[in-house]
Amino acid sequence: MTILDGKALAAKIKEQTAKTTAKLAAEGKRQPCLAVVLVGEDPASQIYVRNKHNDCVTTGIKSLMHTLPADTSEVDLLNLIDSLNADDTVDGILVQLPLPKHLDEKKVTEHISASKDVDAFSAYNVGKITLGRGGFKPCTPAGIMRLLEEYGIEIAGKECVVVGRSNIVGKPMALLLLAAGGTVTVCHTKTADLAYHTRRADILIAAAGRADLIKDDMVKEGAVIVDVGMNRKDGKLCGDVDYEKCAAKASYITPVPGGVGPMTRAMLLENTITAYENH
Ligand code: GUN
Repeated sequence: MTILDGKALAAKIKEQTAKTTAKLAAEGKRQPCLAVVLVGEDPASQIYVRNKHNDCVTTGIKSLMHTLPADTSEVDLLNLIDSLNADDTVDGILVQLPLPKHLDEKKVTEHISASKDVDAFSAYNVGKITLGRGGFKPCTPAGIMRLLEEYGIEIAGKECVVVGRSNIVGKPMALLLLAAGGTVTVCHTKTADLAYHTRRADILIAAAGRADLIKDDMVKEGAVIVDVGMNRKDGKLCGDVDYEKCAAKASYITPVPGGVGPMTRAMLLENTITAYENH
C-alpha cells in the first residue's frame, strides 16, 4: 500500500508557484493577487481563510483579505464583489462558503466575474468543465486529479465511484474522472445499496462528509481510495474512510489530514496564477 502524500506534492506545487512569482518580481511585473472575502465568524471558515492567506504570503501572491460582519447586507457584499471585479490589480476572487443564512450563495457566487472565479463555482465555469472546454477547475477535484497523475494512477477504463454529489466536490469530481476516460458512478444519500457500488470501485472517492462511512468490507482489494472527508470525531480530525482497516486492502490511499486538503489549497494558488496570466 502506498500513501498518496498530498502534503508533499502540495509543497512542490507551492515551490513552483513561488518560482513563478519571483520571476515576475525580477521582471518588474505586477504581483498576482487573490481577494478572499469572509462574512461572519464561522470558526472552520476562519481557519480555512487564514491558511489560504498564509499560502499566498509564502508563495509571493498578494492576499487581499476582506473580513465582513455576519450581518452584512446582500447589497453591500455584491457591491464589494463589483469593486473587486472592476479592480485591475485583482486576479482571483474567492468568497468563503458557507455564507450566513440571509445571504443567497447562488446569487453571490454568480456575481463573481467568470475570469476571476478561481473556485470555479459559477455556472459558466461548471458548464465549461462539463463540455471539456477548459476554464478553471474546482480546487478539490483538480487537486485529486493531480495527485492521481503524480503517482501514475491510470483512470481510463477504470471503475470510478464517487460517494457524494455536492456542487463543490462530488459533481465536478465525476466530470473530471469521466473526461479522463473513467467509467463513473455517483452515489449519494438516496443510493439504495452503497456497498454494492463501492465494492466495484477501482478508484473510490469518498466525499460524503460522514466519519467512517466507508468500512473495509465496502472496499475492493487493491482499490485506490481518496478520502475528501473533514470530520471531527472526539475532537480529532478524520475522513469518511475507516482508515486503518481500509488501508490494509488498498493499493493507494490518502491520509486525513495530509491528503486532499493541502492539494485543494495548492490548486487555488495555481488557479490564481492562471487568472493572472489570462488577465
Ligand atoms: N468552503 C469549503 N470549501 C470551500 C472552497 O473550496 N471554497 C470556498 N470559497 N468556500 C469553501
